[in-house]
Amino acid sequence: MNELWSDMVQRTEPYTPGEQANGEDWIKLNTNENPYPPSPRVFKALQQALTSDLRKYPESDPEKLRYALAELHQVSADQVFIGNGSDEVLAFSFMAFFTPGKPIVFPAITYSFYPTYAALFNIAYDPIPLQEDFTLNEKAFYKSEGGVIFPNPNAPTGIVLPLETVERIVSENEGRIVIVDEAYIDFGGKTAIPLITRFDNLLVTRTMSKSRSLAGLRIGYAIGSTTAIEALNRIKNSFNSYTIDQLALTAGVAAVKDTKYFNTIVDAIIQTREQSKKVFESVGFTVLPSAANFLFVHHPEIPAKQLHKSLKDKQILVRHFSKPETEEWLRITIGSDDEMEQFFQQLFDVVNAWTDKSSVY
Ligand SMILES: Cc1ncc(COP(=O)(O)O)c(C=O)c1O
Repeated sequence: MNELWSDMVQRTEPYTPGEQANGEDWIKLNTNENPYPPSPRVFKALQQALTSDLRKYPESDPEKLRYALAELHQVSADQVFIGNGSDEVLAFSFMAFFTPGKPIVFPAITYSFYPTYAALFNIAYDPIPLQEDFTLNEKAFYKSEGGVIFPNPNAPTGIVLPLETVERIVSENEGRIVIVDEAYIDFGGKTAIPLITRFDNLLVTRTMSKSRSLAGLRIGYAIGSTTAIEALNRIKNSFNSYTIDQLALTAGVAAVKDTKYFNTIVDAIIQTREQSKKVFESVGFTVLPSAANFLFVHHPEIPAKQLHKSLKDKQILVRHFSKPETEEWLRITIGSDDEMEQFFQQLFDVVNAWTDKSSVY
């Protein structure tokens, strides 16, 4: 603490991002990045964008990308808001829709940026414990005082809620915003975007970091009613007029237009995920059913922290969360087939070494 710090800084508990490994030799399965490169159309568009126009500010209202996303999701362009990664869109949403003094609800095991934003913006919250099978307790999300936010699929569990459940949660919160964070929806599950025509209290957030393989360019967006989008624009335009740089805007349009490439890489990841789940189970892991680009896994004997360390010693990064509810689990991002093969070779060594060691005692 420092006496010069504002109250806001004093109460903040910053989010800890996953490590970014230095060097080529690491297998990085810790931040849910896409193992495949962005669409070839992205590289072409970026090359064409490298002109002296970079001296100018980017569009303050990214129209081209808004229109491309509107077409993709069959909504009107004034129902789309674009931000610098969905983290920024989420932060703006906390400011735009949640009010200090009116507690919001989100799952107790979820994306750890939500409690961080809540603390930053002084929003009280009520974390709703998951059920024993790690699914959401639907009714606990009804009739919130200040609003609701949850990822679908949830992170880090990967478990997806059926669209009918999402719809009931939205309709049971009339007059309060329900934010459905669909960062991983392209890997399974049904999007809630079509519900927006019927519910003006629904906001769906999306990212291009995962299924579109553009984490490095930071593009996220929200889809909602025109009044919800206006609220987000009011926040953004009171904060920073140019949140997304010119290169990101250009790349975003190219990525959205390449449906064929998008389908190919998403299908490949889903296939690798299902294959990997079987391999984990064959060596004794419990694996939650995932509709995302990661698996949440637990070994009945080897402590997750130990597994995390042993893999790191072998230059493999996976994600371990040290909160008590999740400390016995690891989140493994789905890599390419080749990366997963190398990962499993090393994992088998760790598991065998542990089994040999424990049989000595
Ligand atoms: C559930 C969830 N929402 C949002 C994000 C943020 O994505 P980005 O800021 O890269 O768009 C992540 C990133 O891992 C996530 O897991």
